[in-house]
Amino acid sequence: MSINYKQYYLHQRPVGDTTDSDVRVRTVEVDGLADGQLLIKNEYFSLDPAIRGWMSDEPSYMPPIDLGDVIRSSTVGTIVESKHPDFAAGEVVYGLNGWEEYSVSDGYFLTKVPEDNQFPLHYYLSAFGAVGLTAYFGITDAAKLKPGDTLLMSAAAGAVGSLGGQLAKNMGCRVVGLAGSDEKCQWLTDDLGFDAVINYKTEQGNLNAAIAAACPEGVDVYFDNVGGEILDAALLNINSNARIVFCGSISSYNASEPVPGPYNWWQILAKSATVQGFLISNYFPQFEAGAAAIAELLTDDKLQFKYEIVDGFDNTLTAFHKLFDGSNKGKLMLKV
Ligand SMILES: NC(=O)c1ccc[n+]([C@@H]2O[C@H](COP(=O)([O-])OP(=O)(O)OC[C@H]3O[C@@H](n4cnc5c(N)ncnc54)[C@H](OP(=O)(O)O)[C@@H]3O)[C@@H](O)[C@H]2O)c1
Repeated sequence: MSINYKQYYLHQRPVGDTTDSDVRVRTVEVDGLADGQLLIKNEYFSLDPAIRGWMSDEPSYMPPIDLGDVIRSSTVGTIVESKHPDFAAGEVVYGLNGWEEYSVSDGYFLTKVPEDNQFPLHYYLSAFGAVGLTAYFGITDAAKLKPGDTLLMSAAAGAVGSLGGQLAKNMGCRVVGLAGSDEKCQWLTDDLGFDAVINYKTEQGNLNAAIAAACPEGVDVYFDNVGGEILDAALLNINSNARIVFCGSISSYNASEPVPGPYNWWQILAKSATVQGFLISNYFPQFEAGAAAIAELLTDDKLQFKYEIVDGFDNTLTAFHKLFDGSNKGKLMLKV
């Protein structure tokens, strides 16, 4: 099969916000597959804060996207042609591909959507994908939570934060969330059952006191999606033997200068706290079990899940910015 399709590629490494000078669109041609390859027509791709990190060339858990390469991202789609022994045309698959209409894959890191799947396909990029699994294993394993613990969650109305907070509520914890608007805060308390919330934007400059008021017995676990000032204020409120799950640091992903801090790092020593760097890929062998557990919770109405799907390949970059200005409503994805 010969086919032309569009893809976003990294032209230059962004400094600050990602612009259309950094990430550009081109048309590529595939003229036949080699043995071991397959061609996927992507239906959705994922927009994740981590993709901004992969555009930079700092050392990380994955190699940077090379200049000229497609922007790496999870996708879900249908195989249109296969020369791979384990995959057939017509099968629906998800995995790490790119911001592109079609992907040529060698099957690496590619998983089949079960034939009896009852959920919308995009759940394989969201609830059953990296963000759902991060919330699940971050809360049920890395956080070492006990019933009665107070969990403080940043980016609480986002994909990881909203699921993680609910999972902690299900475990009998007191859950306090930080989010960037009153509307998000209200959703967390009224619909998701968070015990208290803080609008970190209106409380800027007063975050330490706001966390102290919302967590009168201190913070046993801080689930950090954000870093920066919120991390510093959280550190001033942790209890002895607190656990900090370092899941992300979105406040600095677009920084164009080195980011100082955290200034209150001393509290780790003072409170004998443990900081656990969390990386979802370390849980790869347990992904299937985690997704099954999430599916059961969703089916039993024990978990609510919000997502936002932006329609149209050409809207990818505009949509990507929503993660950083906070205008995304739940897990952000693009319908190709
Ligand atoms: N370690 C891992 O394996 C792993 C896996 C998946 C995700 N993550 C991390 O988890 C975090 C959340 O990811 P997600 O996919 O669930 O995204 P998300 O929370 O759905 O969206 C990002 C949210 O972050 C908040 N935000 C943006 N800039 C901020 C800032 N300067 N200060 C405070 N909050 C800010 C915004 O909400 P507000 O309106 O509330 O500001 C925005 O809606 C990210 O840091 C991501 O890198 C880590």
